[in-house]
Amino acid sequence: MRLSSANINIMVKACRTASKILIRDFGEIEKLQVSLKGPGDFVTASDKKVEKILIDVLQKARPNYSILSEEIGEIKNDESFRWIIDPIDGTSNFLHGIPHFAISLGLERDKEIVCGIIYDPIKDEMFFAEKGNGSYLNNQRMRVSSRSKLKDCIVFTGGPKNSSKDKEKALEEYKKFSSKVLTPIRKLGSASLDMAYVAAGRCDGFWQRNLNYWDVAAGIILVKEAGGFVTDFNGEYNFIENKTILVTNSKINNEMIEVLK
Ligand code: IPD
Ligand code: CA
Ligand code: CA
Repeated sequence: MRLSSANINIMVKACRTASKILIRDFGEIEKLQVSLKGPGDFVTASDKKVEKILIDVLQKARPNYSILSEEIGEIKNDESFRWIIDPIDGTSNFLHGIPHFAISLGLERDKEIVCGIIYDPIKDEMFFAEKGNGSYLNNQRMRVSSRSKLKDCIVFTGGPKNSSKDKEKALEEYKKFSSKVLTPIRKLGSASLDMAYVAAGRCDGFWQRNLNYWDVAAGIILVKEAGGFVTDFNGEYNFIENKTILVTNSKINNEMIEVLK
């Protein structure tokens, strides 16, 4: 690992500790107790255990930081620092025994994401970044891809969620995209890994409506530090308000905005 900031070390420790349970439970998937939280959005017993371990490790090291975590919600404390946690991103994959999901951990300082880790425990891939220090995959520096024409790219998307208000819009965008360009579109089922893969140059762009902050928080810093752009479909960044994200290698940003219009 190249980065050795204290906060990154704490985040790595939290992910490594929690992933032991995650890997064990993934191996015993059929025994997991599963409850239905809402359409398309499942919570597993594992999810809660993983969340608890993450929070325990983080709180032990940084007792004053606030927390926003998918299952338990908000723990208010010091207003300037806040952990943003998605204990399992890609829950549907996890439940179905598909080895593509991640722990996503972001750290905000004064409302800006300054550190992020997305850890895929099955492939043992740790994507991490810190503001001003670049993005890494395990020991390797990551850079976004250099493809500049959408026709040569692969892009990811996710959703739309059945429950989402703008489901129709999302379906329309998908149709528009696939009818205007021949670019292959993939839906891998984990928004955080989608963003990590853009940062790693494996994929060139990603768009989705109706995401939650914990889905994208860590991914935002990973992509920016790898040289990519994080905007909405108008080229602005307004995620907190519109929950819409467009992530690219920077070169195809304008073309993607044109196609999604
Ligand atoms: C989901 C995944 C999925 C995305 C959904 C998210 P979860 O998160 O990131 O890829 O399409 O919108 O809710 O429920 O697995 O944490
Ligand atoms: Ca998620
Ligand atoms: Ca989740």
